[in-house]
Amino acid sequence: MTSTVTDQRARRTAIFPGSFDPITNGHVDIVRRALRLFDGVVVAVLTNASKQPHFTVDERVAILGEVFAGEPGIEVDTFDGLLVDYVQRKQAAAIIRGLRAVSDFEYEMQMAHMNRHLSPTVETVFLIPDETNSFLSSRLVKEVFSLGGTVTAFVPPAVERRLQQTREAARGGPRAVR
Ligand code: PNS
Repeated sequence: MTSTVTDQRARRTAIFPGSFDPITNGHVDIVRRALRLFDGVVVAVLTNASKQPHFTVDERVAILGEVFAGEPGIEVDTFDGLLVDYVQRKQAAAIIRGLRAVSDFEYEMQMAHMNRHLSPTVETVFLIPDETNSFLSSRLVKEVFSLGGTVTAFVPPAVERRLQQTREAARGGPRAVR
């Protein structure tokens, strides 16, 4: 069989790291854009974050697994320690980060430069979400939901369902994570 250019080049994977507490439609948008550039995307949940999360790491992984179920190019994983070490362990080609607005830029530049300092061969690729997702953040979704607002337009259905489950659990009902 004649080999093609695709056969000859190495498979290129990108790591999309984050807290994903919870994943929003903005994150989903970035994953889909990254999949147009890379053969595979690993959505990697940081496990040793200092901030107090709404969802446990296991719950976030379960949600991500549901959101991307049946999509062969997408892997859901966890990592701790330095991101660049994880990128090297996975032999990934790049780190993906979303840039929603100028306000993201400073923090993202700091991280990209620090990661480059720690590992000069690891590139960070910034992708811009659709403008309808440019105001979205996990923090705002949680705030709106906790104050009784509707978040249907901002998150995948799996996230809204689990937010409702945690609300019911807080009212004394069972907290189902699956
Ligand atoms: O979704 P977030 O919370 O903005 O994601 C931040 C994340 C997970 C990408 C960042 O905190 C991270 O990479 N943490 C791993 C620790 C690390 O490598 N720190 C040094 C480089 S900035």
